[in-house]
Amino acid sequence: MSRKIALITGASAGIGKATATLLAAQQYNLILVARRLNSLTELAQQLEKQYGILTYSRQLDVRNKVAVSDLVNELPEEWQKINVLVNNAGLASGLNTIDEGDTNDWDVMIDTNIKGLLYVTRAVVPLMKKHQIGHIINIGSIAGKEIYNNGNVYCATKHAVDALNKSMRLELSRFPIKVTAIHPGAVETEFSIVRFHGDAERAAKVYEGFENLVADDIAEAIWFAVSRPAHVNINELTIMPTAQPAAGMIHRKA
Ligand SMILES: NC(=O)c1ccc[n+]([C@@H]2O[C@H](COP(=O)([O-])OP(=O)(O)OC[C@H]3O[C@@H](n4cnc5c(N)ncnc54)[C@H](OP(=O)(O)O)[C@@H]3O)[C@@H](O)[C@H]2O)c1
Repeated sequence: MSRKIALITGASAGIGKATATLLAAQQYNLILVARRLNSLTELAQQLEKQYGILTYSRQLDVRNKVAVSDLVNELPEEWQKINVLVNNAGLASGLNTIDEGDTNDWDVMIDTNIKGLLYVTRAVVPLMKKHQIGHIINIGSIAGKEIYNNGNVYCATKHAVDALNKSMRLELSRFPIKVTAIHPGAVETEFSIVRFHGDAERAAKVYEGFENLVADDIAEAIWFAVSRPAHVNINELTIMPTAQPAAGMIHRKA
């Protein structure tokens, strides 16, 4: 198999799905993981048909460290030379003050955004080191650079991603493995529906009155980072809607 391989976590929706589509168009073979296998299978079939690539789709909850290491350890040999890992699976859950926050929401965010990203990275990096190749794209957030009202624990998890992104680069660049963080502002995906536990009406209000980013905007930034020459590492990119100058500020039209 001579094509390059990308492993994308959270490929069933939003930014992960858009990134899978863009990398398929660039002739990458794709390892696609998420919890919703039906959505993954549908996407995989469509990309194989449209772009003639190969896919390896598996149901995976990145919070399950045994399942993560089993999946990577059991990859068929032809799928082991992973060129690009997109650590994208993540979520916000709830938007409350610390004293009113739901501790189950906190657990889900910490377990997914920090520990899930760590488990996947821990499993994939040995393969990258073995093949002396690789590029890790960590999807952070403007919430990892700033904080906003009631963002507390989500912001903390994304600040952790920012720190881990820098640590990974320090440790891995010598192998040479590239490490990049992409920090988006407001992107309209399923993100807010998930944050508000399925309340689509409340989620829609997040994107009212201004032009938000779309998942393709982020996929294009990922492709920019991935397609630089070998000697160039994009450390991080922060990408915002023009109408969102800071995490907690959006200029909305009436
Ligand atoms: N949208 C924004 O405004 C925004 C801004 C900054 C950063 N981000 C970050 O961008 C990343 C992608 O979010 P999105 O906006 O594309 O949201 P999305 O449309 O809700 O997609 C999230 C993806 O993550 C997957 N996922 C969630 N929990 C998972 C788990 N435990 N195991 C495996 N996969 C899991 C979901 O798949 P399943 O449900 O099928 O598992 C889904 O494919 C996240 O890290 C998010 O924090 C988003």
